Order: sequence, then structure tokens, then C-alpha cells
Amino acid sequence: MDELKQAALAVRENAHAPYSNFKVGAALRAADGTVFVGCNVENVAYPEGTCAEAGAIAAMVAAGQGKITEAYVVAGSPMPVTPCGGCRQKLAEFGSGDVRVTMATTGGVEQVTTLAELLPGAFVAAHMDGDA
Ligand code: THU
Repeated sequence: MDELKQAALAVRENAHAPYSNFKVGAALRAADGTVFVGCNVENVAYPEGTCAEAGAIAAMVAAGQGKITEAYVVAGSPMPVTPCGGCRQKLAEFGSGDVRVTMATTGGVEQVTTLAELLPGAFVAAHMDGDA
């Protein structure tokens, strides 16, 4: 089985999702080839919950890596799970537009896209150029 898929499926088992009962797993490959994983971590104060993608990004950055080259997200959803808007922006912070993102179901359905397709018109640092 593909390394990213296997890692995302495995970490999904650790998700803390007692409120939505919707477990999500994410796996990212960093520039040096290392795979980082994250799962959603919900909280009784609902807005404090974090997405699987955010957890994987935090793990990658904490390990000293700063570039995503590939991503895989999986959930027990009827159709491939798409990263939420906030996570699209978070992923775009560390990955170029051509980064391959595979969205999947635990049942084995996969949909492949790119960061640019997920977040057209991303807000980037250049937008802040020249502001006084
Ligand atoms: N969730 C993720 O972790 N990643 C996604 O791509 C979509 C949504 C989580 C957040 C929350 O814990 C649960 O799924 C339901 O929204």
C-alpha cells in the first residue's frame, strides 16, 4: 500500500472526534521524504478543535521541515473528504500549487487534485508588498 495512504489511515484511528464522530487522518511528505501525520483533535469547546491537516503540518514544522511535496487526507465519508477552507490556506503556506493532494474515503475511493485547484486565488505574501 502507498506509504502516505497507509500513514493517513493509521493515524486516523487515533483521532479524537467524540463530538462529530468523524475521524480524519492526514499524511504529508516533506521535502526530505519524511512522512508526517496528524488526526483531528476535537474539544468540548467546539471551536478549539483542530483538523487532521493542521496536526500534520504542526508535526512537520516542529521537526524542522518547511516544505510539503505531497498530501493524503482520508475519512470515513461517503465521498472523498476535502480539506476545509482554513486547512487549504495552511497547506498553501508550505506547499506550491502543483503539490498533489489525494482525498480519500476509508472505503478506497480516491480523488486526486492539487493545492492550486483547492485554493485558487490564494492569499500570498506578495499581497502585503508595499503596504505602509
Ligand atoms: N476535519 C478534518 O480534520 N479535516 C478535514 O479535511 C475536514 C474536517 C475534521 C474537523 C472536525 O473534527 C471534523 O472533521 C468534522 O468537521
